Amino acid sequence: MKVDGKKYRTIWLAKDGESVEIIDQTKFPYAFEITKLHTMEDAAHAIRVMQVRGAPLIGATAAYGVALAMRADSSDDALDTACSVLLETRPTAINLHWALDRARKSLIQVAPEYRAVAAFTLANEICDEDIAINMAIGMHGMELIAAVARTKREGEPVNILTHCNAGWLATVDWGTATAPIYMSHEGGIPVHVWVDETRPRNQGAFLTAWELGHHGVPHTVIVDNAGGHLMQHGEVDMVITGTDRTTATGDVCNKIGTYLKALAARDNNVPFYVALPSPTIDFSLSDGIREIPIEERSGEEVSHMTGRSRSGAIETISIVADGSEVANPAFDVTPARLVSGLITERGVLSANRQAIAEAFPERVKLSA
Ligand code: MRU
Repeated sequence: MKVDGKKYRTIWLAKDGESVEIIDQTKFPYAFEITKLHTMEDAAHAIRVMQVRGAPLIGATAAYGVALAMRADSSDDALDTACSVLLETRPTAINLHWALDRARKSLIQVAPEYRAVAAFTLANEICDEDIAINMAIGMHGMELIAAVARTKREGEPVNILTHCNAGWLATVDWGTATAPIYMSHEGGIPVHVWVDETRPRNQGAFLTAWELGHHGVPHTVIVDNAGGHLMQHGEVDMVITGTDRTTATGDVCNKIGTYLKALAARDNNVPFYVALPSPTIDFSLSDGIREIPIEERSGEEVSHMTGRSRSGAIETISIVADGSEVANPAFDVTPARLVSGLITERGVLSANRQAIAEAFPERVKLSA
C-alpha cells in the first residue's frame, strides 16, 4: 500500500541483495522507520519484540530468516538450527510453522552450495503468494460489503468493526480483514471502520488507525468495550477480524478480545466474518479452545502504557495500582458456531470441517 504516495510492502529484499528490510512496527504511530535485518538472529529478534507482527508477516519474516541463515552457513545443521530458533519466537500464529516447514522441506533437497539462493527465492515467493492471496480475499470480502451497501441509502457508509491489526502491516500487503475494506473504498463503496484500540499493545489505535488514515479510509477508534454498545444501537453492519490460527473445524484464534466481539455480534444479529489466508489453517487441530497454544506475554504490557505526552515526548507510564498481579493472555479462541463465514482466497466458507476441507483438499491430504 502507499505511504505518502510511495508504494511499500512490509518486508523486502534490500538493494544490496544481502539484507532484508522491514518497517519497524514498534515505532508506530509516531514514526515510520525502516530497519535492516542482516542475520537470522535479527529476524528472530524482530519477530520476538514485534518489530514485525501479524500471522502472515511473521511467516514471511521467518522465511527470510532462514535465507539469512543459509547465506552465513548452508549446512543441514544450520538449516535445522535456524528453523528451531525461529519456531520458538512466537507460539500462536501457525503461519510461522507453515513457512518454516515449507522452507525446511524444500531446502533440504537442495545441495548446500545452492541453498542460500534457493532460500531467498522461496522467501520472495512466499511474499508474492501472500499478496495474491490477500487480493483474492479482498475480492470475495468486497462482495459481502457490497451486498450490505445495497441495503443502505445512497452514500450511507457500511460500518465495519475490526479488532487488532489485520491490515497490510500484519501481512506483506493489503491485509486480510482490511483487503475487502480497501477494495470497497477504492471501488467507490462508502465504508466506515470502527477500530478497536486493542489493549494491551494497541495494535488498533497504533497500526490499523495509522494505515486506514494514510489510505484515506474513514474510521473511528473506540475502546475495546464499546463494540457491544454500538451493535445494540445498529451502528455496526458487520465485523471482520483476522486470525492467527484456524482449526480444521473452523474455530478461530485471534487477538485477545475477539471472542467477546463475536458474542456481542451473535446477540445482536451482526454478521461476524473472519478473513484468512489458507496458511493460517492448522489442519491438524479440531478443538481450538483446548489445542491452540495461547501466548502469555509480559505483564508489563498491561501495567504500563507508552504514548506521546503533550510536550511531544514518547513516555511509558504505569497505569495499575502498585503491587497488583497482572495477567496477559494475548489471544483467545472464537468457536466456529459464532463465525458467520471465513473469507478465504477461495471464497467465503462456512466455518465447519466439510466446507474447509472441500475448499482446500490438497492441504487436508498433506496433513493426513
Ligand atoms: O500479536 P499480533 O499483533 O501479532 O497479533 C496479530 C493479530 O491478532 C492479527 O489480527 C492476526 O495476526 C491476523 S493478521 C492478518
